Amino acid sequence: MRKNIVAGNWKMNMDLETGIQLFNEIQQLLKEEVNGDQEVIICSPYIHLSSLSQLVNPNTNLSIGAQNCHQADSGAFTGEVSASIIASTGAAYVIIGHSERRLYFSESNSLLAQKLDTVLKNGMAPIFCVGETLEQRNNETYFEVIKEQLTEASFHLQGVEYRKMVLAYEPVWAIGTGLTASPEQAQEIHSFIRGLLADKYNQDLANNMTILYGGSCNPKNASELFAKSDIDGGLIGGASLKARDFVDIIKALNE
Ligand code: 13P
Repeated sequence: MRKNIVAGNWKMNMDLETGIQLFNEIQQLLKEEVNGDQEVIICSPYIHLSSLSQLVNPNTNLSIGAQNCHQADSGAFTGEVSASIIASTGAAYVIIGHSERRLYFSESNSLLAQKLDTVLKNGMAPIFCVGETLEQRNNETYFEVIKEQLTEASFHLQGVEYRKMVLAYEPVWAIGTGLTASPEQAQEIHSFIRGLLADKYNQDLANNMTILYGGSCNPKNASELFAKSDIDGGLIGGASLKARDFVDIIKALNE
């Protein structure tokens, strides 16, 4: 059985103090209200990782993640952070290939392939994001785009490594726009991705892969999305910055 996961991507929000406050509120609400077997991941800015890791209650299914890393192990890359530095904070996940990284920092599929390798080599799990732009949705090239993103960035991995990853489908036109993919649109892509994994690897790997949906997911639309058979949880941006909303989305997983 594959894992159900809700991951929050704080993006470039929250100073250290407000981030710690938010984290404590989320953890408290989880303790009081949630008792499913889902996993919850908080992907904070780098600055928070070490503090948040130390606040994790070992009895909860809560993990910490980063939002990016550099592809090299170490060296003269001023301002960058390697996967081994991230791992040393206690973080267990790293988001790789978010559309904002692809767009604003020109991250290509071949660069993302190197980033997936370094995250895995350092014992963490990538949350690898794919998704099409509005133009690609409208001109109906989205199946090819997603296939290309997966193939070029991730299909060099052996199955045993692939099984450690989490995938996220985030249509770019739905991120931060209030436009959500309909449950049917998301299900169509999730099922397509699972089919690609079955073709490339095998049906067992495909069945066991957790595939998250991301893009304007909120407490109102989460249940309908999570009810779809190939949607195993969410990657949440804006709504992960409010403890109440984020925990309500987590509760929608158990409905
Ligand atoms: P929003 O939930 O704010 O649309 O962001 C989604 C996202 O990009 C998560 O990585």
